[in-house]
Amino acid sequence: MNIDQLQRQFGIDGQVRIQPGAGDLPCIKITHALANATIYLHGAHVTQYQPAAQPDLLFLSEKSHFSPDQPIRGGIPICFPWFGPRQGHPESPAHGFARILPWQLESTSADAKSVQVVLTLESNEKTRASWDHDFTARYTITIGRTLNLALQVTNNGTTPFSFEEALHTYFRVHDIHQARIDGLSGTCYLDKTDALKQKLQPAGAIEITSETDRVYLNTVSRCVIHDRGGRRRITIDKEGSQNTVVWNPWINKSRAMADFGDDEWPGMLCVETANVGCGQVTLQPGASHTMTATIEPHTTDKTL
Ligand code: BG6
Repeated sequence: MNIDQLQRQFGIDGQVRIQPGAGDLPCIKITHALANATIYLHGAHVTQYQPAAQPDLLFLSEKSHFSPDQPIRGGIPICFPWFGPRQGHPESPAHGFARILPWQLESTSADAKSVQVVLTLESNEKTRASWDHDFTARYTITIGRTLNLALQVTNNGTTPFSFEEALHTYFRVHDIHQARIDGLSGTCYLDKTDALKQKLQPAGAIEITSETDRVYLNTVSRCVIHDRGGRRRITIDKEGSQNTVVWNPWINKSRAMADFGDDEWPGMLCVETANVGCGQVTLQPGASHTMTATIEPHTTDKTL
């Protein structure tokens, strides 16, 4: 369907509009009393979520590509069916194919509390060429006072398969030097900046003081980002997720990324709801798995 047909079928007067976005990629613009949002069909990518009377919650790079063969840098890329580089397959795209394929718009709906958008990605010739499994990924995005994301994966084939997944959420922060993360103290993580060594997160909030790229293990409870410079606290609750990835590229890595501004790193922090590595999910034929993240911003009076 082209953009006009999508708009005729799924548009909702005053609340949901399907229109050309950056790079002419189709996007869904949500306008609701409680929040505004933008979702690209390319990658089922939420690029903007702005609760009423608050600044945008998500970071989006000014250098991002908006092109059918490239991921969008910022917002919430979906990593699936693998995370990071695919072991033994250097030719495969990093973080899987879900973020660089067009998803189908299945439904839109709206009421006084929220707008809901459902997008799907079905296995096809292209996905089977690199990952030979039959699946449906169904992504339900609910935009209201909170941002609720539910990624359901179903095995439509006749043999079991395993996959990794992440809702690679780029939070906008006022200044990374003043940001803290609560909820991971006392857990173990794999340090991707130090040859994947397993380390223990000491008690207390996490401060980011250098390049940080960590996969926290067996972490199922709430994380809280204290964006103290931005006078905001963001809670992230999740279900069906064993891992939490924390990432900030810091100075040198930022310079090495073509689709990320050299000076953008102090304004973002990724806290990702994930199932990766030992946390990968195995699905029997006919079975489904759902991973959800509920993200809620709270304004605070305090800066420090
Ligand atoms: C993070 C990974 O989730 O994503 C990092 O842990 C990676 O290792 C980062 O560098 C960005 O990945 P990409 O493929 O979007 O540049």
